[in-house]
Amino acid sequence: MSVSFAKLSFLVLALMFLVVDRPSSCLELIDDKFVYRNFQDHKRDTFLHNRFKKGFAWGVATSAYQIEGGWNEDGKGPSIWDTCSHQGGHVFMNHTGDVACDSYHKIAEDVAILKDLGVTYYRFSVSWSRLLPDGTLNHPVNKHGLAYYHKLIDALINANIEPVVTLFHFDLPQALQDIGGFENRQTVQHFLYFADFCFREFGQKVKYWVTINEPYVYVLFGHEYGLIAPNLKLPSQRSFNIAHNLILAHARAWKRYHERYGQEQQGLVGMAFSTIWAEPMTQKAADLEAANLFMQMTVGWFARPHYHSDYPDEMKEYIEKHTDIKLPEFSPQEKEQILTRSCDFYGLNHYMTVMVKERGNEMPGQMFDPETVRSEIDRNWIVKEGYYTIVPWGIRKALNWIHKHFHGPAIIVTENGMPHVGYDVNLEDQDRVEYMTAYINEVMKAQLLDGVDVRGYFAWSLMDNFEWTHGYMMRFGLHYVNFTDPARPRMARASAKAYTEIIQDNGFPSKVREDL
Ligand code: GAL
Repeated sequence: MSVSFAKLSFLVLALMFLVVDRPSSCLELIDDKFVYRNFQDHKRDTFLHNRFKKGFAWGVATSAYQIEGGWNEDGKGPSIWDTCSHQGGHVFMNHTGDVACDSYHKIAEDVAILKDLGVTYYRFSVSWSRLLPDGTLNHPVNKHGLAYYHKLIDALINANIEPVVTLFHFDLPQALQDIGGFENRQTVQHFLYFADFCFREFGQKVKYWVTINEPYVYVLFGHEYGLIAPNLKLPSQRSFNIAHNLILAHARAWKRYHERYGQEQQGLVGMAFSTIWAEPMTQKAADLEAANLFMQMTVGWFARPHYHSDYPDEMKEYIEKHTDIKLPEFSPQEKEQILTRSCDFYGLNHYMTVMVKERGNEMPGQMFDPETVRSEIDRNWIVKEGYYTIVPWGIRKALNWIHKHFHGPAIIVTENGMPHVGYDVNLEDQDRVEYMTAYINEVMKAQLLDGVDVRGYFAWSLMDNFEWTHGYMMRFGLHYVNFTDPARPRMARASAKAYTEIIQDNGFPSKVREDL
């Protein structure tokens, strides 16, 4: 991949969108049709009145470094995000997660707003280095960290909220980065011990596990583009090696769970994959192929091994033909013994749709583009902060793609949401209300009309938090958080109230169609 070129054009594109004043309202509901700005496909975009199937899981998501704070309290070891934010120069205004939403001290407050929201699931992550300060079991476990997560999980269960625990959400213990991070197979082994430890400690109470969050973003943005921790700019070959180890790390943890704990604990172990939807620009074969290649090289790269025991053929062919990279191979034993069906649910994180065509001689559009593909954001779409497109039908198509390519797996939308930029107390986030209404409606269409086995939707995020390189400037919260107030008060936005209504209705039932 010609990364520097691609990266440059991505940044230019991002900047362009930042300076252009885009309208903030994305859609309206008129005569039962969504009038998405500039979308005219009425059949596709007509609002569906109905309810999700019984038992649909409603939740919200956060992650440890983004909300906890207490970065060096009570024996927590440093993670690569502590290093990255303290180094300076990586994050907007050098913000850090030192205090963040102070969730380390605010279990009661967090559970209270979750209860008010009416969600029945809460996806959060455990900080690996809060539990095992150097990432390993070679030293004593941090009892305070352990107590914190037990207390949080107990409080959730008392409030009838099911915990969904992510084991690794970008914040690798610094001590493991010091031995090469996931490039070193020893880290895979330490991850297995860590996962085993969490299953043993919390597994009586936790029935949903996400092993790794967005390996695609972690590998490429963290190790090749140098944008997020550990801020490395390694050659592509090494990214592919790291990716390979992450895939094996998940599969080993999955297997361990089912060998040692599954029967007794009866839980599910999945992974959260960043899932951009690539819409072919035209129906020409070359564009269809380009869009498929884009999906295979973003989603298929990390997910296909867990459903079909190997990398996508399209990706293998492409890499062989167009690069000098040697794609690592899974051994026959790995394929048979640990990869086969090693995901109990596909966690779908979705924030973006792109239009894709065959590239010819054109420059790449986005940094995700392989050499033969050009992806771009349609100029007519609403785009939030240069990257987050508002294309509700994109999530339905992504869900269908996963359904089709991975044997109709159980899917949980583990993240979906929309940002605002700024520090203002903006509680009237009508655009987010519209966004959620539209996206959730499209998820419901996938479930009811297309037969996709989608079992839950978790909004990103419960509250404003440390948005990685954007610091506290970029806000995804259903709750506003005042980061200049030491008490970090949380205040419900209009979107929180709208979400509660959708949850109570289990969808959008007025005028339910009996024929469905
Ligand atoms: C995801 C990530 C989350 C959150 C979100 C919004 O990539 O998993 O932690 O930051 O993006 O940008």
